[in-house]
Amino acid sequence: MSAKHPPPMRLLSVVGARPQFVKAAVICKALAKIDGGAAICHRIVHTGQHYDPLLSEVFFQELDIPPPDHNLEVGSGSHAAQTGEMMMRLEPVLAAEEPDWMLLYGDTNSTLAGAIVGSKLGLKMAHVEAGLRSYNRLMPEEINRIVADRLCDLLLCPTPLSVENLRKEGLGGQAVLTGDVMYDAALAFRERAELLSGPMAQSWRAGEFALATVHRAENTDDAGRLRAILRALDCIARRICPVLLPLHPRTQKRLADLGVSPEAVTVTQPATYLEILQLESRARFILTDSGGVQKEAYFAKVPCITLREETEWEETLENDCNVLAGASVERIVAAAEDAGRAGPWTPVYGDGQAGEHIVRALRKRVA
Ligand code: UD1
Repeated sequence: MSAKHPPPMRLLSVVGARPQFVKAAVICKALAKIDGGAAICHRIVHTGQHYDPLLSEVFFQELDIPPPDHNLEVGSGSHAAQTGEMMMRLEPVLAAEEPDWMLLYGDTNSTLAGAIVGSKLGLKMAHVEAGLRSYNRLMPEEINRIVADRLCDLLLCPTPLSVENLRKEGLGGQAVLTGDVMYDAALAFRERAELLSGPMAQSWRAGEFALATVHRAENTDDAGRLRAILRALDCIARRICPVLLPLHPRTQKRLADLGVSPEAVTVTQPATYLEILQLESRARFILTDSGGVQKEAYFAKVPCITLREETEWEETLENDCNVLAGASVERIVAAAEDAGRAGPWTPVYGDGQAGEHIVRALRKRVA
C-alpha cells in the first residue's frame, strides 16, 4: 500500500438495543458522506440484547443499516447473566477484529459489556452520548454510562452540560462536544416519517391524542409505580384526549403478570422508528420514561411529561418543555392538563451533523 493510499481506518460498532440502532444509523450515514465511505471500514457487532424483530430487524431495514457482521444472540437475562454472556461472546470477536477504534453507544448492558472487554484487550474506545448523568445509581443505565465513560479514550458529548459533567469527574480532557446523534437522526428521517400513510397514520391525527411509552425497569419492575402510571394514562384518556401506548415487550410481560390491562388506553405493539417519529410530531403531548423519546419530543416541539423523578436530559426541562411527574397519578394528570403552556423550545442539541463531527474526531485521533 503506497503512502498516498493508507489502509482504511477500521471502526467497529457494538450495538444491541433499539436506541443504539438509531445512533449507529447516523454513524453509517456520516461514514458514507465522508470520502464515500472508502477511508473507513466499518464493522457492526450486534450483541442480540434485543431480538424481537420489532425491536431489532425492523430498525436495520428502515434505517438502511448494513446487516451486522456478527450477531452474538445473547438475548434476555438478569443483568449479570446478560452482561456476562455478552462479555464472553464479545471477547473472541473483538480480539479477531482488532479495530483501530471501537464505538460504544449510550447506556445499555451492551455498552457496558463492550467497554469492559474492549478495555481489557487494550482497544481504543469512543463513547457516543458520553457525559450524561441522572445521578440516580439505582438506574442500571447510570452504572453503565459511568463505567463506559471511565474506560473510553474519547468521550463524544451531545451537549455542553454533558461536557461539564465529565469535567467535574476529571474526564474533561477526553471530552469532545459533537452535538446529539439522535437529533441528526430525527432530521434525517423526519420527511420519510411524515410520508407514512398506513393504518397508524390514518387513525392518529395531529393534535388529537397523547402518545405514551413505558419501559424503564424502575417503572416496569415496581408493581405500585406501573399500576399508578397506567391509572394516570387511563384518567387522561377519559378526561383529556385519547392515549396511544405502543408497548415494549418488557412492559407487556409485566402487565400480563400483574393481570392489569388499561381500559381507556389504546395499546399497540412497539412502533418502528419512522412510526414513532410521525406519532411524536402529531401528538398533543407525550408521556414517557425513555431518554430518547424525551428528546424527540423536544426536537418536535411537543410538550413532554417524564414518568421519572429525574432526567439526564436536563436541558429539556427549560420552559416546562419537559416536566418530571414521576409515577404519581395526580402529578401526571396535572402535567397533562398544563401541557399547553410548554415552550418556547431553544435549540441545544447541535447542528444536525453530530455524526460527521464524530467521524472527524475519530479520524483525527487514529494512531
Ligand atoms: C434496554 C436498555 C435501556 C434502553 C432500552 C431500549 C439496559 C440495562 N437497558 O432496556 O437502556 O433504553 O433497552 O428499549 O441495557 N425483551 C423482549 N424482547 C426483546 C428484548 C427484551 O421480550 O427483544 C424483554 C425481556 O423480557 C427482557 C426485558 O424485555 O428480560 C428487558 O430487556 P433488556 O434488554 O434487559 O432491557 P430493556 O428493558 O429493553
